[in-house]
Amino acid sequence: MSYKKIGVITSGGDCPGLNAAIRAVVRTALFNDIQVTGIMNGYDGMINGKFISLDSHSVSNILQRGGTILKTARSEKFKDQATRKTAFDNITKEGIEGLIILGGDGSFRGIEKFSSEYNIPAIGIPKTIDNDIYGTDFAIGFDTALNTVVQAVDKIRDTADSHNRLFFVEVMGRDAGMIAVYSGIAGGAEAILIPETETKIDQIVKILERGWQRKKSSMIVIVAEGDDAGGAYDIAEEVKKRFSQYDTRVSILGHMQRGGSPTCADRVLASRLGVAAVEALLSGHKNEMLGIISDKIVYTSFSEVVKNKKIFPNELMRIAEILSL
Ligand code: F6P
Repeated sequence: MSYKKIGVITSGGDCPGLNAAIRAVVRTALFNDIQVTGIMNGYDGMINGKFISLDSHSVSNILQRGGTILKTARSEKFKDQATRKTAFDNITKEGIEGLIILGGDGSFRGIEKFSSEYNIPAIGIPKTIDNDIYGTDFAIGFDTALNTVVQAVDKIRDTADSHNRLFFVEVMGRDAGMIAVYSGIAGGAEAILIPETETKIDQIVKILERGWQRKKSSMIVIVAEGDDAGGAYDIAEEVKKRFSQYDTRVSILGHMQRGGSPTCADRVLASRLGVAAVEALLSGHKNEMLGIISDKIVYTSFSEVVKNKKIFPNELMRIAEILSL
């Protein structure tokens, strides 16, 4: 396949590493004599015709920056068929022949429809701090978010230890406990509560009592925001009714997990996937998401990506339990 011009979009929630991926897409395209249009504000930019031309200079000095120079959005309008027609007319006018989308499940669902309606080749690059996208071991942004959380948990541990306190730390993950389990292991959490398994208050109390009997000077419970028993405040209230040996505090880390300079691992992942996305278009791939599984680039159709659920690493929960003794 040959292309004269492709478009690149960031869609859905932002995360660290998006700029590194945009840079990789632009530089790889230019290396292959392909022009690149940046589509602003996610799919809304196609609908409103908000395009910018990206040359090599426009992506210098962005590799290390969080956020996205293209801005991003979760577009509701793109769900409407007539609006998608306007989007197609706009990208055709701009001369865009293929698309690279940095997105998650929702974005891939949208582009799958669009590319099948208008036969425009599209390649997806997985990004989300939640790391819950099927078809890749890791999504861009996850590693940076984890490092942010672990730094925060280490700091919370210092104050918890000084005051002999119990902390409930809420991390992001509306539907996924990936951030919770990885940061829980790395931060030495006493318990980890995730949406994937049922949370029983009695069980948490038992773990905390064991810690108290062992004379632990601080305890940390990591709560994924989407836990079935509620948010960190709700769970802390319930626990306090049955376990009051420690002074208890709650800390919600929130959107700080979505910002900041990407880690080395995220920069390398974003660079690999950005290069591979342009090369995938050139070798005739379309309507697939790229991922890295066991260190190899793999292609999964958008329909498979959105149909399947990433398998949760239950083994990590088992490890966390052993180590929390
Ligand atoms: O999907 C990424 C994520 O950060 C979730 O963990 C979180 O629940 C959600 O986005 C928050 O979305 P918003 O930025 O719209 O509040």
